[in-house]
Amino acid sequence: MKRNFIACFLLLTSLAAGAKQQGETSMTLPDGNGSSREPVELNRNKRQPLPYKDATLPVETRVEDLLSRMTLYEKIAQLNQYTLGNNDNVNNIDEVVDKIPSETGSLIYFGDNASLRNAMQKKAVEETRLGIPILFGFDVIHGFRTVYPIPLAIGASWNPGLAGEACRVAAMEAWHAGIDWTFSPMVDIARDARWGRIAEGYGEDPYLTSVFGAASVKAYQGDDLSEPGNIAACLKHYVGYGASEAGRDYVPTEISRQTLWDTYLPPFEAGIKAGAATVMSSFNNISGIPGSANHYTMTEVLKEKWNHDGFVVADWNAVVQLISQGMAKDGKEAAMYAINAGLDMDMVDNLYMQHLEALLNEGKVSMERVDDAVRRILKLKFELGLFENPYTEEKPESEWVLLPESLETARNLAEESMVLLKNDGDVLPLEKDCKVALIGPMARNQKDLLGSWFGRGRAEDVTSIYDGLNEVMETSVAYAPGCDFDGSDTSGFAEAVRVASESDVVVLCLGEKRNWSGENASRSTIALPGIQEDLLMTLKETGKPIVVVLSNGRSLDLTRISPAADAVLETWQPGVMGGPAVASVLTGGTNPSGRLTVTFPYTTGQIPVYYNHRESGRRGSQGLYQDIPSTPMYEFGYGLSYTDYEYGQVTVSADSFTVNDRITASVTVRNAGDMDGKETVQWYICDPYSSLTRPVKELKHFEKRLLKAGEEYTFTFEIDPMRDLSFVNGEGERFIEPGDFYIMVKDQKVRITLTE
Ligand code: BGC
Repeated sequence: MKRNFIACFLLLTSLAAGAKQQGETSMTLPDGNGSSREPVELNRNKRQPLPYKDATLPVETRVEDLLSRMTLYEKIAQLNQYTLGNNDNVNNIDEVVDKIPSETGSLIYFGDNASLRNAMQKKAVEETRLGIPILFGFDVIHGFRTVYPIPLAIGASWNPGLAGEACRVAAMEAWHAGIDWTFSPMVDIARDARWGRIAEGYGEDPYLTSVFGAASVKAYQGDDLSEPGNIAACLKHYVGYGASEAGRDYVPTEISRQTLWDTYLPPFEAGIKAGAATVMSSFNNISGIPGSANHYTMTEVLKEKWNHDGFVVADWNAVVQLISQGMAKDGKEAAMYAINAGLDMDMVDNLYMQHLEALLNEGKVSMERVDDAVRRILKLKFELGLFENPYTEEKPESEWVLLPESLETARNLAEESMVLLKNDGDVLPLEKDCKVALIGPMARNQKDLLGSWFGRGRAEDVTSIYDGLNEVMETSVAYAPGCDFDGSDTSGFAEAVRVASESDVVVLCLGEKRNWSGENASRSTIALPGIQEDLLMTLKETGKPIVVVLSNGRSLDLTRISPAADAVLETWQPGVMGGPAVASVLTGGTNPSGRLTVTFPYTTGQIPVYYNHRESGRRGSQGLYQDIPSTPMYEFGYGLSYTDYEYGQVTVSADSFTVNDRITASVTVRNAGDMDGKETVQWYICDPYSSLTRPVKELKHFEKRLLKAGEEYTFTFEIDPMRDLSFVNGEGERFIEPGDFYIMVKDQKVRITLTE
């Protein structure tokens, strides 16, 4: 078989450079191993399309017809993904791929535009026996060329509609570049900010992550995957990757079934309900069984309980890693474990390609399982319309990248995601005629505002904070870098002090480089390097008011920074429009409306710290830290505004009800200040006594709305008892128990009673 595989390889020269491919077509007729695997005769009547090529037939019919014509080799090839082009992911540098079978199921596409795709697609469509198009995937995580804020920031906007608009932009740009499928959204819950990939998710809360994950899926995919500008989504990393021990990447996770169901599975279930076409299996070992060999999660839960009819792709090399993880003794066994557990497509390690035929012959993998996996992949290809439109029109870049409306969306999202953590003495917003000293390593930086996974983003596309601020200030902004992001060189401090002394206010831009978070980017402490903190302490001696502007990819330990600053604005990694967005928030053009979706601990030592923990047996007075406060610095849901929102009394339509009733809770909020602003009302539920203990409170609903100065609005939350008051056990079975519950909004707590 190996010989025949090699015969089927298409030699592509200079692929890594993305040059035009040459070489002969790969298509030799498959060898037909075993009678059931003989190639089916192709239709000789040219006027009658083969059923699978007939777009008028239902997808299921087309899938079955095509499957019935495929040889074993053709089937196995569909279950593999290779890379095409220059792999620029530093964590996944591999051998340059110069041999790609043109029957392959999918490619990770490292191209800027559609030309390389079209050349490769031509081989698949026009020069293979069945002409099955290739599916091109890429990590479009927070924008393709128009890079918008990192997902952690997006969550902090509490505006899933706006997040959806940004995903539409990303999908449109990616689609023009020849991408059919994004490996996004990441819906991993993360409660340990040492883990660099916390940047890629929406934070610590399962409900909020579910809402944003579902909004992203719908926005990427649209109503019809075959429409121009729509791409398939991929929920990742399934499942529990965010529980990485001690915040290190790729390491095992210890997750009880109860926690799996309470915390890690809900966003995936929501994404599946939203129609996600695919799911990516995770790297982590889930209490003994790695995510990529986990029959329970991939088959029993995802495919059988949730009826997911899309496919599961492995994470990069996740199948071969089953060997390092101590499960499989070799590649063949790894392939066996993975496919039998329900993993349909092997990402880049090609173990399915190498071993599936032998595993079938030995009876260790069934033909039913292989056919099932192939069906799932073909289904998506038909749904995307790839058989009808396999190529992407090569349009000039100027027609689809960085369009004004795309930049506007990126800017709106950046503005709405920024969280004002502190504003003593109303130092913000700044008067436009004041003299600003802009200091710090992030002040004129462009590339680090992109964050990790910046797609095809470029540093030169980014407007820096310096440029953004100069644009809106009436007097020119004085600048001094002060120091680098880390190290011990304090030689720039003196100049920074001089510039600060001649100004009315210091805006100090601190933060993390973009590669300090994201994949394979864990940190043992989440404080900023001492040199940045020291710069702040030195500037404080000038007596000038200090506004700290933070740009980073995780929650931070602000033990030293927060008390020393007059104001602190968390801007995350805000993307290409970061500068204008920061400038607008600092000067009051935008009233800050972001709220944290990750808790900022008092110090790194409090990790893991998150709002929806279970209660202690000795509440409040014991079990506390001896050396630091036991409460966090800034909690989930926290964020200030330039206006005051007055909350009226929370009322409920009934305080006693049955499981079949619906009750409505309402609260009227008034913008009592003189600046328009967007307020998010956060509705939490507390179930104080339950046969399976519940967290101290759980977010169940939220709504963000513009309130003009003086305006009031009544926010409501319709409670569906089964949805909002029930809980799951470790088997995923749902329960509801009569008794008292509390609705919690801001500092109010209202009791409601569920009767038998
Ligand atoms: C990451 C995934 C990503 C994949 C493909 C992996 O290393 O964990 O999130 O989608 O690479 O680039």
